[in-house]
Order: sequence, then structure tokens, then C-alpha cells
Amino acid sequence: METPFYRPRRLRKSPALRALVAETALRPDAFIYPIFIVEGKGVVQPVEAMPGINRYSPDKLAPVVAEASKAGVPALLIFGIPAEKDEVGSGAYAEDGVVPQAIEAIKRENKNILAVTDVCMCEYTSHGHCGVVKDGDVDNDATLPLLAKTALAHVHAGADIVAPSDMMDGRVAAIRAALDDAGLADTPIMAYSVKYSSAFYGPFREAAESAPAFGDRRTYQMDFRNSREAVREAALDEDEGADIVMVKPALAYLDVIAAVRAQTDLPVAAYNVSGEYAMVKAAAKAGWIDERAIVTEILTAIKRAGADIIITYHALEFARQR
Ligand code: PBG
Repeated sequence: METPFYRPRRLRKSPALRALVAETALRPDAFIYPIFIVEGKGVVQPVEAMPGINRYSPDKLAPVVAEASKAGVPALLIFGIPAEKDEVGSGAYAEDGVVPQAIEAIKRENKNILAVTDVCMCEYTSHGHCGVVKDGDVDNDATLPLLAKTALAHVHAGADIVAPSDMMDGRVAAIRAALDDAGLADTPIMAYSVKYSSAFYGPFREAAESAPAFGDRRTYQMDFRNSREAVREAALDEDEGADIVMVKPALAYLDVIAAVRAQTDLPVAAYNVSGEYAMVKAAAKAGWIDERAIVTEILTAIKRAGADIIITYHALEFARQR
């Protein structure tokens, strides 16, 4: 006699059946690939703790753009590393700075690839903090106009989306107002709304030379013991005019992605950060894990938790192998 009750295993009998009822699918067109750009010419410099990731000068970007387009990855997230750093991070908002140069190089190669820019001061300041420092502390309000200027310089150069990652309070509103005043009301803001103070950023700080010279970022980045605060931060950014909210890092914060997803109708992005990438690459290199399977599982989990968009250093390699 047949059992009268529902048996989940009935739907797992074949790959086709499993695919038919799968709740989550990974699409390369929802990936963003981060890139590090240095000034100069002819530079392709590997980042030691991030195998497969290089720092490029703008003239060396063409193959990356071509690969993204071939793999179906629609967007690049640009991090600039200037030749000179100073107290106020003036390289961040220079109209001919390293990020504007990268945007122009990308657009020259393929105007359909979306140029997303990280808006922050830490790569540009001599002290490595994400804002202007006064009396040994980051001055929130003095930083806002500089962030707005930075976003404007990026959009003037052709950026499609600006992504403030500094975690100053009020920066989304400041950037939105500056863009609107400049007639750029159609440029979206992807806010790093929920950004934890995290050891998972270690390899990035090597790549971007942006480790703080003194102290840490705990006065402006979030405490990983908290998740209610994440929901509050995302709601504030939404009120200030964010078009996409982001959670970062991703893997140790799946509960936070789900919580943010539940309280906003905006698209949610998750940043699978440098340390998460480095751990996978190191274990794979040692032959301890199946890289492909692990990456699929990790990215699917981030999606399943509620992320619409995934920012990941795995994007090109993963999409290419599909
Ligand atoms: C700040 C910024 C950081 C990352 C993205 N934007 C570093 C930090 O806050 O120290 C980290 C990304 C990663 O680890 O992959 N501009």
C-alpha cells in the first residue's frame, strides 16, 4: 500500500526533478566582480593572499572587461589605489584620479559593462581611515562633503552606480543631494549599509594598501555581536535614498542578510569578501576541498539567505566554468 503522507524524497529522485523544484539559482548576471586599479602603465601585479586576483593599471584592463562580458558578468566594482596619499584623501575626488581613469578604460572597451565605484577615503588617506581625522578620531560630518565630491567625480567619468563603503552617518543623503543637484538624479546608490568591522577584510587591505595606520574601524563599522543594528542601518540608508542595500561580509553573516531581506523591498547585495575568498583558495590549493563544489555551495547559500546581487572575487572564474 502507498504511504498516504508526503515524502520529500519523492522529489529528489533525479537531477531533472531536483532542478525542477530547486528554490535558488545562481545567475552570472547578478554577480559583480571587484577590481583593484593602480596608477601608471603596464602594471599587472598579483595580490598574494588572493590567488587569481591582480592589481591592474588602467591600460591593462581590456582582458578583464572582455572576460566579464564573455562570462556574462555585467558589472565591475572599482577600487582605486592612488600613487600619492594625503591627510584628506584628495586622490579620491580628483576628476582625473585613478578611478575616473579606470572607468574611462572600461567604457572604451565595452560601454555596456556597468562601472560600479567604491566611494571611500581609506585607500586615499595617509592614515588609512575612511574619513577625515581630527584630534585622533574620524570626523563624520567633515567627511560627508568629500564623499559627495568623490561620488560626483566618479559619475562625471561615467560610473553607472556609486557604492559608499565608508560607514559615515548621513553619507547616502549627502551623496544623493549632490548627485541630484548636478542633474544626476538617475544614478543609483548601492550603499554598504551593513558593514561589520571584520577580520575578513585582511587580504583586501593588503591589495588596497588601506590598513589604518593607528587604531581600527570599530567606531564606524559595526560590531559583529549585533544584528538588530543591521536592520536599523539598512532602514536609515533606505530613508536617505539608497537604491540597493548591501551586507558585508557575507558568509558569516547569512542571518543578517536574511534579516535585512525581510525588512526591505529594495534589492539586497551581499559582499563575499577577500578573506572568504582567500580561505577557499588556500584550502583548495592544499587539496583539502573541492573548490568548484565549495564555491557553488557558498554562493548559493548567500543567494538563499536573501541576496539578489553577489559581489565576489569568484565571479569570473565561476561564471566562465558554467
Ligand atoms: C573600504 C572597503 C573595504 C572593503 C571594501 N571597501 C575594506 C575595509 O573596510 O577595511 C573590503 C572588501 C574585501 O575585503 O573584499 N573602502
